[in-house]
Amino acid sequence: MTIVTHDQTNTDTSPVAVKLGRSPHHVAIIMDGNGRWAKQRGLPRSAGHRQGTENLRRILRAAVEFDVKVLTIYAFSTENWSRPRREVSLLMRILEMVLDRELKELNENGVQIRHIGEMDGIPDRIQKKIKEACELTRNNNELILNVAFNYGGRDEIVHAVQNIIRDGVSAEDVTEEMISNYLYTGGLPDPDLIIRTSGEFRLSNFLIWQGSYAEYYYSDVYWPDFDKEEFRGALEDYANRRRRFGKTDEQIDEDTV
Ligand code: FPP
Repeated sequence: MTIVTHDQTNTDTSPVAVKLGRSPHHVAIIMDGNGRWAKQRGLPRSAGHRQGTENLRRILRAAVEFDVKVLTIYAFSTENWSRPRREVSLLMRILEMVLDRELKELNENGVQIRHIGEMDGIPDRIQKKIKEACELTRNNNELILNVAFNYGGRDEIVHAVQNIIRDGVSAEDVTEEMISNYLYTGGLPDPDLIIRTSGEFRLSNFLIWQGSYAEYYYSDVYWPDFDKEEFRGALEDYANRRRRFGKTDEQIDEDTV
């Protein structure tokens, strides 16, 4: 996979391109609708996941081009284990295939891969590949790609609390910032924009702590068809929003003077 970095030949001066100067720093995506995309075409669900994987490559390129700095993708939730065994195996194989086939180019294009989620439960062979990919790319800084795999937001908070207790932190010393730092995303900024495709309006246990002040964008388009232009549309929508973080409009005006 070749990722096009900031395209010097881009002469697109449309309002959208101008507004993309205000790209969200951290975008998180719930890549939903692979199964329905396949069903609509009379294909097996596996075809939807494969096409969804192809689309992920497109969106990764677009994220770099649009100057997104952190991209978090929801690839496998702690709840997805309840899917048919064949589908679970396929999703494991897809992750392995992505790591085998794409790692070299992702690394060459400055993508830093991080895993967020629980390692326990993932087959040992794949755990090893995840760790190797994270280690190989740890100093890259073009784009941080958080792969949420065997991830659940509640599970993440439980682990954080367990670790805080294990570290002997006293109750009075527990702060929001501390909890944030104990999460899998510790050290990274919270998502600015969370996108969900396929017309579903749910968070499904994704970044439930980190998403407190995120902007949400829902698209009816199934993930395999959520292409660069759809992504651009989501970023444009974000650029037009006014984030208040609990403040009044007047306060925001004063802050930006
Ligand atoms: C939701 O669609 C999608 C998933 C559970 C898996 C997402 C995986 C990919 C896009 C492939 C890339 C994966 C990795 C591991 C890098 P769904 O199956 O719930 O669709 P449906 O709601 O239409 O049935």
